[in-house]
Amino acid sequence: MDYSRKIAERQWNLPDKGELESRREATYIDDIIQKDHLQRKLLENLDGIKTVFDGGAGSGRFSILLAKMGCRVTHYDISQSMIDKAKELAEKAGVTERITFVKGALEDLSHYADRSFDLVISFDAPISYTYPNQERVIGELVRIARKKIMFSVSSRLGSLPYLCNPIQKNQFILDEESDDPFVLWCVTNRDKMVSGFRFDKQNAERVASDGLLGGQQEIDEYERGGAPWCITYTFLPDELEKILQGYGVRNIQLSGPGAYGRTIPRDILVRLMNDPEQKKDFLDFCYRFDSNPYVCGMGKDNLLAVGEI
Ligand SMILES: C[S@@+](CC[C@H](N)C(=O)[O-])C[C@H]1O[C@@H](n2cnc3c(N)ncnc32)[C@H](O)[C@@H]1O
Repeated sequence: MDYSRKIAERQWNLPDKGELESRREATYIDDIIQKDHLQRKLLENLDGIKTVFDGGAGSGRFSILLAKMGCRVTHYDISQSMIDKAKELAEKAGVTERITFVKGALEDLSHYADRSFDLVISFDAPISYTYPNQERVIGELVRIARKKIMFSVSSRLGSLPYLCNPIQKNQFILDEESDDPFVLWCVTNRDKMVSGFRFDKQNAERVASDGLLGGQQEIDEYERGGAPWCITYTFLPDELEKILQGYGVRNIQLSGPGAYGRTIPRDILVRLMNDPEQKKDFLDFCYRFDSNPYVCGMGKDNLLAVGEI
């Protein structure tokens, strides 16, 4: 089995993962912007959609929404702790009977027949964790889709600025007093990260060319019994478009959720999030700006692709 898959399996099966993932939008502003964009795009594309496959469905952010909209959803994920959280939330939402929960890896979709689902989605980067199989996985997701495919992957142009900004997540912390462990880490280590920072041009150039975040260090940590962050393949917009065209996908639209939001300082973002009217106007405008194909490479982590089969 590939290291990426083994690492993803261990990382996403950590016991608190489902709980933390389900709280992201209560914790980080970039997650609010991103998930809001994905939700709008999804709701715009539901005409005639009765069955959905959600690959890497996590704690059910979108599978539960789709079930509430009346769709029958296959919630597919490599992590039992994510599935358990999603089941709990689906039960609360009263939609369990419209969701089939399946534990499995995106690398293996052979048990699904061609064109099994009206819509296939995979949001917030699960495909990027399937390196070196990411192209084949996209092909498999296209194969099982009947009408449409929508997925978001890690964006190379969106990720490269992180390499010169070790405190990028601080900009998006909603409440610095939150008990979220990563918020605590970001706040505590902020000054140390700045004073100890050195720009590694060689590494930036390597990531710009091969698109890989992580590698041998993560493999070594895994072998020592640790649970490192997933080896992540980041895509370029034109690369993603060509892959989809190669699989016969038509009317491809790309967008970069987060491009507008990343330009705004934290103090202003927090003000916007705490005023419901301003929050709505801001998210409306982010959606409009971030959907412009000329800024799509510069969204934050994610590059979103929508296409027809
Ligand atoms: C960032 S979460 C996104 C969850 C959900 N799609 C959302 O947008 O809220 C990524 C999810 O992908 C799952 N995942 C990672 N690698 C996977 C793989 N190889 N096969 C299936 N699921 C995977 C993880 O378990 C996790 O639930």
